[in-house]
Amino acid sequence: MPPPPPPLARAARRGLLLLLVLHCCWGTLLSTASAAHHAAGDGVIISQADYQGLQAIKHDLSDPYGFLRSWNDTGIGACSGHWAGIKCVNGSVVAITLPWRGLGGRLSARVGQLTGLRRLSIHDNGIAGAIPAALGFLPDLRGLYLFNNRFSGAVPPEIGRCVALQSLDASNNRLTGLLPASLANSTKLIRLNLSRNSISGEIPAEVAASQSLLFLDLSYNMLSGRIPDAFASGSKAPSSASSDERKLEAITGTYQLVFLSLAHNTLDGPVPESLAGLTKLQDLNLSGNSLNGSIPDNLGSLHDLKALDLSRNALAGEIPESLANLTTTLQSFNVSYNNLSGAVPASLLQKFGPPSFAGNILLCGYSASSPPCPASPSPAPASPGQEPTGPRGGRTKKELILIIGGIVLGILILLSLCCLLLCCLIRKKRSSGSTGARSGKQSSSKEAGAGAAAAAAGRGEKPGTSEAESGGDVGGKLVHFDGPLAFTADDLLCATAEIMGKSTYGTVYKATLEDGSLVAVKRLREKITKGHKEFEAEAAALGKIRHPNLLPLRAYYLGPKGEKLLVFDYMPNGSLSAFLHARAPNTPVEWATRMTIAKGTARGLAYLHDDASIVHGNLTASNVLLEDGSSPKIADIGLSRLMTAAANSNVLAAAGALGYRAPELSKLKKASAKTDIYSLGVIILELLTGRSPADTTNGMDLPQWVSSIVKEEWTSEVFDVELMRDATTGPDGDELMDTLKLALQCVDPSPSARPEAREVLRQLEQIRPGQEGPGDEAHVASASNE
Ligand SMILES: *[C@@H]1O[C@H](CO)[C@@H](O)[C@H](O)[C@H]1NC(C)=O
Ligand SMILES: *[C@@H]1O[C@H](CO)[C@@H](O)[C@H](O)[C@H]1NC(C)=O
Ligand SMILES: *[C@@H]1O[C@H](CO)[C@@H](O)[C@H](O)[C@H]1NC(C)=O
Ligand SMILES: *[C@@H]1O[C@H](CO)[C@@H](O)[C@H](O)[C@H]1NC(C)=O
Ligand SMILES: *[C@@H]1O[C@H](CO)[C@@H](O)[C@H](O)[C@H]1NC(C)=O
Ligand SMILES: *[C@@H]1O[C@H](CO)[C@@H](O)[C@H](O)[C@H]1NC(C)=O
Ligand SMILES: *[C@@H]1O[C@H](CO)[C@@H](O)[C@H](O)[C@H]1NC(C)=O
Ligand SMILES: *[C@@H]1O[C@H](CO)[C@@H](O)[C@H](O)[C@H]1NC(C)=O
Ligand SMILES: *[C@@H]1O[C@H](CO)[C@@H](O)[C@H](O)[C@H]1NC(C)=O
Repeated sequence: MPPPPPPLARAARRGLLLLLVLHCCWGTLLSTASAAHHAAGDGVIISQADYQGLQAIKHDLSDPYGFLRSWNDTGIGACSGHWAGIKCVNGSVVAITLPWRGLGGRLSARVGQLTGLRRLSIHDNGIAGAIPAALGFLPDLRGLYLFNNRFSGAVPPEIGRCVALQSLDASNNRLTGLLPASLANSTKLIRLNLSRNSISGEIPAEVAASQSLLFLDLSYNMLSGRIPDAFASGSKAPSSASSDERKLEAITGTYQLVFLSLAHNTLDGPVPESLAGLTKLQDLNLSGNSLNGSIPDNLGSLHDLKALDLSRNALAGEIPESLANLTTTLQSFNVSYNNLSGAVPASLLQKFGPPSFAGNILLCGYSASSPPCPASPSPAPASPGQEPTGPRGGRTKKELILIIGGIVLGILILLSLCCLLLCCLIRKKRSSGSTGARSGKQSSSKEAGAGAAAAAAGRGEKPGTSEAESGGDVGGKLVHFDGPLAFTADDLLCATAEIMGKSTYGTVYKATLEDGSLVAVKRLREKITKGHKEFEAEAAALGKIRHPNLLPLRAYYLGPKGEKLLVFDYMPNGSLSAFLHARAPNTPVEWATRMTIAKGTARGLAYLHDDASIVHGNLTASNVLLEDGSSPKIADIGLSRLMTAAANSNVLAAAGALGYRAPELSKLKKASAKTDIYSLGVIILELLTGRSPADTTNGMDLPQWVSSIVKEEWTSEVFDVELMRDATTGPDGDELMDTLKLALQCVDPSPSARPEAREVLRQLEQIRPGQEGPGDEAHVASASNE
C-alpha cells in the first residue's frame, strides 16, 4: 500500500508555498524576532558528533522530494537554521522535525550520537526498518513521533531508558514482537500510542501499572492473554483501597489513565476489576477482544467516564445496575455483541437506545425484537436457570490480584526509591505532565479523548494553568482553556507553521501540531501588548467566552522573552470576506446562506454585547470566519483588551480604511456597541450587494453608495445580481428590501438611530424565520443559556 503523497510535498511540487512554510521550530522564530544574535543561529558551529550523526541519518534516508538537499555544506549552516528541520541549542541538535516529507529508507542508528536530542518527529513518511535501540541512550529525548511510517521489528526495550520521554507515538507502523515491560521505566511517559501495529504477546503488568501514563492506546494489535489486573497506582487491588487512600492519591498527584484503548486485539479472560481504580478514566475501549466473565460492578464508580465500549467480546451475566450511575456523564456506551443477559438498566437504554445492546441474545426487553423481560424488571432474579452467572471468575481473579500485587509491590518499592532521587524534580514533572496530553485527531470520535486531555491539562496545581517545562530556549508558560485541544508548549513551539495573514495586532499562522491537528496561532506584536499581569487577567476572561458564533480562545503562551501567542480553533473555510469576494467564478452564494451568515454574526455580536459586555471594536468581514459553508464565528473578540491604548487607535484607523468604521470614530476614537453595529450593518450590506466595502464608487463608501441608489429609487440595482438571477431558491423581494432597510438603519450616521445587536437579530429572524434547520435552534438555545 503506497503512502498517499505527502500534502506538503504535493504543494511543493506545485511550487507553491515553501517560502511560507517555516520548517524551523517556532522557538527559533520567536527568538529570531526578539534576539538579534539569533539571526545567524546562536553563533555556535554544530558539534562534530552531531554533524556526523546527521550525515548518517541523511545517508540512510531516501529523499525523493529533495527536502534534505539543504543538508549540504560542511555543517556551518546546520545550526544556523539553514538545514531543513534541524534545531540546535549551543551547537547541539535538539530537534529534528521532518513530518510529511515523503521520506523513505531507514532511520540510522547513529541518531544515538545526537546526545542533546529532545524531539524526533518524522511521522507521516515511509520510513522502514527497525526503530534504533540507540534512541534509548538519549537522556533528553522527550518526544518520539514515528507514527504513520513502515517501521518493523520490535519496540526496542532500550526505549525504557529514556528517562525524559513524555510521548511515544509509533502507531500505524509494522511493528511486531512483544511490548517491552521496560517502557514502564520511562517514568515521565504520558502518552504511549502503539496502535495499529502487529505487536503480540501479553500486556506487561508494569505498563498497566505505570504511574505516569495518561493515554495508552494499544488498539489494533495482536496482543493476547489476560489484561493484567494491575491498573491504578500499580499495586493495590482497588476494591481494597479505602476512599481515604484514593483521596491521598489524588492529593499526591499520581497520574492515572484518562484514555485506555485495547480494542481489536485477541485478549481474553475477565475485564480487570482494577480498572475501577482509574478514577480519572474518561475513555475505556475494550471492544473487539475475547473477554469473558461479567462486567465488573465497580466500573460504576468511574465517575468521569465519557465513553465505554465493551462491544464484540464474550462477556456474560447482567449489565450491572451501577453503570446506570454513569448515564449523565457517558456520551457513548456500547456493549453490543456479547453474551449478556437479563434486563437493560432503564436510563442507559433511554439514553443510548437499542443499537448499543444489540447482538446479546439473552438480553431482554430492550428492543421490539428482543424477548420481553420477566415481570420484576430491575434486580432481575430473572432468566431462571439460563444464566448461572457464577462467581464472576472471582477466585482466580483474587489469586491473580495477589500474585500481581506482589510483583507490582516490588516494582513500586523500586519506583519509590527513584522517586526519592527525583524528589526535587517532581514539581517540574507535575507541570509538564499536566500539559503533556495529546489532542485527539480531528475526527469527532476522538473528542472524548481530547477532552480528557484538556481535563488532564486542567489538573495542574493551579487549575487550567501549567508552566511549560522549560528546556533552555523553550521556557515559558502555556495556559489552556476549556476545549478539545491539548498540546505541550513544545508541541506548539515546534509546530509547522504557515503564515495566514498579518494585522495591526500581529501575525496569524496556521500551525500543524504533532498529531496532525490544526490550530490558528496569533502572535501578538510584543511592543503593543499590555504587561504580563494585565495581559493574563484579560486573557483569562477572554478564554471563558464560549458561544457557537464566537471563535473560542483555546490557550495562550507567554514566552520567556515576552512573546505572546494566542491559540484559536482553526477554521478551514476562511473568512467571510474571502468567501464572498475571492470565490471561483460560477459559485454563487445562495440567499439562504447569506441570511444564515447574517443571523449568526448578529447572534454572536448580541451575545458579546449583552452577555459578555465586550465591544468588538474591529468587526469586519475578514474577522468573521466560516466553520462550514454558513456557520459564522466572529474572531478577534476582545483582542483590544490585550493591547495598549495606542495600538487600539491604530486598529480603528485600519478598520476605517477598510470601510467598516462608523463616522463618529474619526472624532471619538473610542469604539462602542454602536460602532460595532455600524460594522455589522456594513457586513449585511456586503452580503446583500456582493460588493466589498474596500471598493469605493465615485468616492462614496458602501453605505453611502447604497443610500444614494435607494434615494434615487433604483433600489433593485443595489442587490447582488446573483440574488436576482435564481427565481426558485432566490429571496422574495420583501426579504431583500426588509434586510436592506435594516442594514441601512445599522449604518445610520447617527449612533442613536442604530438598533441594538439583539434587535437586529430579532428582525433578521422575522424576515427569514429559521430555515437553517435544527442546528440553528440549538444555537439559540445555547446562546440564551450561556
Ligand atoms: C546548500 O543548499 C542551500 C539550500 O538548498 C543552498 O542555498 C546553498 O547554496 C547550498 N550550498 C552548497 C554549498 O551547495
Ligand atoms: C554551551 O556550551 C559550553 C561548552 O560546552 C558551555 O560552557 C555553555 O554553558 C553552554 N551554554 C549553554 C547556554 O548551554
Ligand atoms: C493513536 O494512533 C492512532 C493511529 O495513528 C490514532 O488514530 C489514535 O487517535 C491515537 N490515539 C491517541 C490516544 O491519541
Ligand atoms: C527498570 O529499571 C530498573 C531499575 O533501574 C531495572 O532494575 C529494571 O531491570 C528495568 N526494567 C526493565 C524491564 O528493563
Ligand atoms: C472502540 O474501538 C473500536 C475499534 O477501534 C472503534 O470502532 C470504536 O468506535 C471505539 N469506541 C469508542 C467509544 O471510541
Ligand atoms: C474465560 O476464558 C478463559 C480462556 O479462554 C477460560 O479459561 C475461562 O474459563 C473463561 N472464564 C469464564 C468465566 O468463562
Ligand atoms: C453464550 O452463552 C451461552 C449460554 O450461556 C453459551 O452456550 C455460548 O457458548 C456463549 N457464547 C459465547 C460466544 O461465549
Ligand atoms: C451507584 O449505583 C449503585 C447500585 O445501583 C448504588 O448502590 C450506588 O449508591 C450508586 N452510587 C452513586 C454514587 O450514585
Ligand atoms: C457498537 O459496537 C458495534 C460493534 O463494535 C458497532 O457495530 C455498533 O455500531 C456500535 N454501536 C454504537 C451505538 O456505537
